[in-house]
Amino acid sequence: MQPVFAPFPHTRFRRTRRTEALRNLTQEARLTVHDLIWPVFLRDGAGIREPVHSMPGVERLSVDLVVEAAVTAADLGIPAICLFPYTDPALKTADCREAWNPENLANRAIRAIKARVPGIAVMTDVALDPYNAHGHDGIVQDGVILNDETVEALVKMSLAQAEAGADILGPSDMMDGRIGAMRGALEAAGHKDVAILSYAAKYASAFYGPFRDAVGASGALKGDKKTYQMNPANSDEALRLVSRDLSEGADMVMVKPGMPYLDICRRVKDAFGAPTYAYQVSGEYAMIKGAAANGWIDGEKAMLESLVAFKRAGCDGILTYFAPEVARLLQGH
Ligand code: PBG
Repeated sequence: MQPVFAPFPHTRFRRTRRTEALRNLTQEARLTVHDLIWPVFLRDGAGIREPVHSMPGVERLSVDLVVEAAVTAADLGIPAICLFPYTDPALKTADCREAWNPENLANRAIRAIKARVPGIAVMTDVALDPYNAHGHDGIVQDGVILNDETVEALVKMSLAQAEAGADILGPSDMMDGRIGAMRGALEAAGHKDVAILSYAAKYASAFYGPFRDAVGASGALKGDKKTYQMNPANSDEALRLVSRDLSEGADMVMVKPGMPYLDICRRVKDAFGAPTYAYQVSGEYAMIKGAAANGWIDGEKAMLESLVAFKRAGCDGILTYFAPEVARLLQGH
């Protein structure tokens, strides 16, 4: 598209910025509560609310309280909640078998939420890291992260989550072939309406630090995730991954982290037109909260600006720890 405008002074761009009414009328991207997916951290027990120190305002919640959080989210109009369990270190093993235990923390939370708030979409994390003695997203043998064995484990994990009532499965592991394997197994088991939101372009990022504290994976993890997560310098590869995951049966795709990868969001949306999401990850949240707590930036304005940027970049929605806070702001309460 070639922009057309008369030369100055016939065109003055400031005319449409003069009043709030004119600015609203000419606004291109808009953030609404329907754009939000709220990631929450789970822990065992009852009546427990445990602050995550590196993520001010974020807490690990026991299942009873996560149900209350889901009620609040639904009341605010937030369409989806995404569950991340903090697993008891005693349950972490090399074969990661707790991941597909129908009674594990995540699966119990799915059932409890769906029983009380059936209307909210429950999204899960499909990856082995919370259950892995090695802290990695895949099964480790002699220091190598095994692809195909991990995919088998992820399929079992997916079926247990679908059985528990999950609406959206979120494979965040970056193994090859997992989308096709999951989709085939879901069809075969009769879970034909369970959606897959693939973490298709997930980068090996320093911005996941606070999350790994929140789920208790930082202690276990040795080394990095560069043999499966993407190189931050790559962009064409993201398109190939998204294309591959869509062709294997993903319904929605994700770019992660968010703000440093807005160029990838735009390319993905333009290339495929599929439902596209960004994950504004823990480190992005922590930077905004940390700077705001020091009085260095206006936290509320920075939050809103960071979120509308995803809409401008072509995203259909955002996974963000700000979800309840921004929803309250957008709903005016
Ligand atoms: C791991 C997983 C990670 C996040 C979501 N799922 C961390 C990682 O890959 O090490 C990060 C989310 C965040 O930082 O907010 N399966």
